[in-house]
Amino acid sequence: MRRKFVAGNWKMNGSLAANAALLSQIQSAIQLPMQSKTPAVSVQADCDIAVCVPAPYLAQCQALLAGGPIALGGQDVSAQTAGAFTGDTAASMLHELGCAYVIVGHSERRAGYAETNAQVAQKALQALAAGLTPIICVGETLAQREAGQTNAIVGTQLAALLDVLPADQVGKLVVAYEPVWAIGTGKTATPEMAQEVHAMLRAMLVARHAQQGMTVRILYGGSMKPENAAELMAMADIDGGLIGGAALKAADFLAIIAAASAVTK
Ligand code: 13P
Repeated sequence: MRRKFVAGNWKMNGSLAANAALLSQIQSAIQLPMQSKTPAVSVQADCDIAVCVPAPYLAQCQALLAGGPIALGGQDVSAQTAGAFTGDTAASMLHELGCAYVIVGHSERRAGYAETNAQVAQKALQALAAGLTPIICVGETLAQREAGQTNAIVGTQLAALLDVLPADQVGKLVVAYEPVWAIGTGKTATPEMAQEVHAMLRAMLVARHAQQGMTVRILYGGSMKPENAAELMAMADIDGGLIGGAALKAADFLAIIAAASAVTK
C-alpha cells in the first residue's frame, strides 16, 4: 500500500511573520501515532507531509521544521548544476537547506515561463542527482480537456521524463496530476474524473516499470480542500494531494492531513 502524502504549495505567498505563525499552528496540532501528549487542537497524522515554500524562506522554514514531522520542499529547481544562471536555484542548494522535495513543472511555470517537457525532465534529473524527490506536475488546460486531449497531453508530459529517467530512479518519483482548469478556481475534478487520469498515469508507469510503477505516489492538485479531500483520496490511484490555497490556512491544511490519515483502501 502506498502511504498517503499531503504537500502544501505555498506559491508566492508568505512573510517571515506569517510563515512562523502558520507553521506553529500546524505543528502544534499534529499528533503522531503512539504519541502520548494530546495538543489542545489535535490531528492524528498518519501520512507524509511537506510544505514547499518560496526560496527566500527555506532557511527560516528549515529551522522551524527541524526535528518535526513536516518535510521541506522547494517550488522549482534549475535544470543546470551550477554556474552563470542568474536567478536560478541549484538542486544542491535546496538539499543543503534541508529540502527533501522539489516541485518541477508546475503549470504556473510551464505557462508563465514557457518551460518545456524536456526542461522539466532535466529539472527532475537534477533534483534526483542531488538526493531530492521531484514532485513532477502534469495537467491539461480546459481547452485541451474539451478537445479530448487530456490523456495525450498528460501522457506526453510524463513520458518526457520517463524517457530519460534511469530505471532505478523511477521509484523515487512523486507525480502530481493538476488539471490547469482546477487550480485556484474552486473547480475540482470529480473523484471519478481525477481517478481516470491517475489510472492512466499508473498504467503508463507500470507498463514501463512493473514493480516500481506501483509504488510511485500520484497526488491530485487543484482546489483540494477539506470538503473534497476524503472522497478524492479514497480513489484507488489518488495517493494524496498537492495543496495550494488551502495550505495557507492551518485549519484547512490540518483537515486535509486528517482526511489523508483516515483513508483506508
Ligand atoms: P489550489 O489548491 O489553490 O487550487 O492550487 C493547486 C496547486 O496549484 C498546487 O500546486
